[in-house]
Amino acid sequence: MADWQTLSDRINNVAPSATLAVDAKAKAMKAAGVDVIGFGAGEPNFPTPDYVVDAAAAACRDPKNYKYTPTPGLPELREAIAAKTLRDSGYEVSADQVVVTNGGKQAVYSTFQVLLNDGDEVIIPTPYWTSYPEAVKLAGGVPVTVFAGGDRGFEPDLDALEAARTERTKAIIVNSPNNPTGAVWSAETISAIAKWAVEHHIWIISDEIYEHLNYDGAKTTFIGAAVPECRDQLIVLNGVAKTYAMPGWRVGWLIAPLPVAKAASKLQGHMTSNVANVSQRAAIAAVSGPLDAVYAMREAFDARRKAIVAALNDIDGVTCPTPTGAFYAFADVTGLLNRPLGDKGTVCTSSSELAAALLDEAHVAAVPGEAFGAPGYLRFSYALADDQLAEGMKRFKQWASR
Ligand SMILES: Cc1ncc(COP(=O)(O)O)c(C=O)c1O
Repeated sequence: MADWQTLSDRINNVAPSATLAVDAKAKAMKAAGVDVIGFGAGEPNFPTPDYVVDAAAAACRDPKNYKYTPTPGLPELREAIAAKTLRDSGYEVSADQVVVTNGGKQAVYSTFQVLLNDGDEVIIPTPYWTSYPEAVKLAGGVPVTVFAGGDRGFEPDLDALEAARTERTKAIIVNSPNNPTGAVWSAETISAIAKWAVEHHIWIISDEIYEHLNYDGAKTTFIGAAVPECRDQLIVLNGVAKTYAMPGWRVGWLIAPLPVAKAASKLQGHMTSNVANVSQRAAIAAVSGPLDAVYAMREAFDARRKAIVAALNDIDGVTCPTPTGAFYAFADVTGLLNRPLGDKGTVCTSSSELAAALLDEAHVAAVPGEAFGAPGYLRFSYALADDQLAEGMKRFKQWASR
């Protein structure tokens, strides 16, 4: 490009999505005929339930769905999401507090766009989902990361959050069950965060997209149910991607106090107008239907969770705490750094180099901890077939043991 053809500082300041990049590289290698085992993507390897697909197929044949929908979503879908929230999270919201977005990702983006002014700070418990800091920066905000390691179950420490609080603290993110750690934060931690946020007038952004995926008796604590006083400053993010195996349908939502919901809808009116009508019809079938599909997936994930944690801990130099939520294992790989690995004796000095070498040499894709603000770790999504999981772990072990 010529000198004058510069891009905006806003976009130059944003890092690409590392999770999508790993997934894209793995898929490109596969397309080129390389037998790659992909632990990178955060998408369930199950089909969308038939009754949801049938609803979409019927919607395709109905010309009323060839039109735009209202910007914040079909009224029936917003009602169904409000009803689902009462059913699953245990508290009442009204349909006009719901804005249907193009995936949970747009709900994250829109939330920061409508809340933040330049220089406003957002406290992000770390390890974090890779898009949070970038969405904060795109809105002119400043991400403030507060790390909690495997030694405390990746659960935030209230004293550390308080130490990070300043006059400019505008919001905090709560994400439990968590991506990338798979941690399910305790009811005590979630309640303490809510009370602290109420005391200090801090918005709470609660990303509940993995709400139904927990194991070993762990329970998702819904912050709006646990501490009702926080509801006037609570924005809930959610979507159909993980619960109903629908990542490609691009339906998410936010639930917020009315002025915030209206602002998010105003923004959407200039961005995307609305989510695809047919996808919204599919989402109505999903959220108003049973949870059988997610419970069946959960059973399969649970078996894989046990298998992957055992396999990772069986590799010399790798330590992986047992996650109780989502479908990720977050392994400490610092024991593999600075020593020769694989046939070539490759020496990696960071988890990012390790992930690249693992993909190139052993054809196993995992996402480096750097993408989540946690160098020294690798994230393995276990949303893949059992035989693939076993083969991937075998390769990793062989490569790491040489
Ligand atoms: C924590 C978290 N929030 C939100 C999303 C967004 O999901 P989607 O945009 O596919 O609905 C994801 C997807 O990986 C996620 O892991």
